[in-house]
Amino acid sequence: MTNKIPTDTPSQHKVEQLKSIIELLSDGGWHTGPGLAQRLKVSRAYVWKLIQQLQEYGLALESISGKGYRLKQHLNLLQQGEINQQLSEDKVDAQVFMLADSTNQLLKDEGFCHKRLIIAEYQSAGRGRRGRNWVSPIAANLYWSLGWQTQMPVQKLGGLSLVVGLSLVSALEQLGYKDLALKWPNDLRYQGKKLAGILVELSGDASGDLNVIIGVGLNVQMDQSTAQEIEQAWMSLSELADEQGLNGPNRQQVLIGCVKHLNSNLALFEEFGFEHFLSKWQEYDESFDQQVSILQANSKLQGLGAGVDSSGAFLLQTDSQLETIYAGEVSLRINQ
Ligand code: BTN
Repeated sequence: MTNKIPTDTPSQHKVEQLKSIIELLSDGGWHTGPGLAQRLKVSRAYVWKLIQQLQEYGLALESISGKGYRLKQHLNLLQQGEINQQLSEDKVDAQVFMLADSTNQLLKDEGFCHKRLIIAEYQSAGRGRRGRNWVSPIAANLYWSLGWQTQMPVQKLGGLSLVVGLSLVSALEQLGYKDLALKWPNDLRYQGKKLAGILVELSGDASGDLNVIIGVGLNVQMDQSTAQEIEQAWMSLSELADEQGLNGPNRQQVLIGCVKHLNSNLALFEEFGFEHFLSKWQEYDESFDQQVSILQANSKLQGLGAGVDSSGAFLLQTDSQLETIYAGEVSLRINQ
């Protein structure tokens, strides 16, 4: 699926109508066009347009003539009030948007604040590392960005995306998931398939503090048909839950767990630096002792993954020496 950048950003009223359709469908039953039209007090033709729009946003729907429309899989929209209630002790202020270009961008546009959390049900221009697109179908996954203001010197922030990855692992382990792995510097994986990606963006402010935007995309129940453009191997938490005999994931519960673990790890990171997390990283480091390639703009380095140093930089054992690799614009491939 290509994420559609809405040419005409829908009005708030239309966004509410799109939301109402999803809410009506979320009972899991069949709904006819006329039935939905009646509930929304609009024409059938307009319902059809709304349904088309939702399909363009990647909503996985079945439709059968005579029966109407039904969601392919169970879903509940994220509830801002409940999320804020559960994150109140963490002093996180969450806002849920139906549509965003990118939650990282929206956090900047809405006004960066420490512990402001922007969540979207859909991203039209979700950003991945190295200029990639992050496929973000509506109400299927989790897309969120947390603002974090810190006085840590920028040179110490190299390990931050690793700490974010470890926070996701802890949250998911608490929910019963097992055998998760981290691929330096920003991928959460299971058996070589990507479950989540992390995009950290930094900017300075006049006081000398750093404004850090921590963006996380976590595949929860993405339909294969909406994700055909993803080039690398990926999977959703729902598949992993099936494989490991767990209940299907509840997106809101997963989100809250991840933000809580991240929030407490950020405090530890600020106080003790990445060193505090080094041994934990070693438990999940997928490329340790594996043949890997490091792809840089114009070069490729090959060697054996040798862990990370106390700042979170990658260590590559080549034939001749131990090289230290900083995240920047490099890409790491684990050779099969
Ligand atoms: C990657 O693995 O390349 C990083 C992906 C990060 C995606 C998330 S989704 C929420 C936040 N907003 C964005 O535009 N990107 C991040």
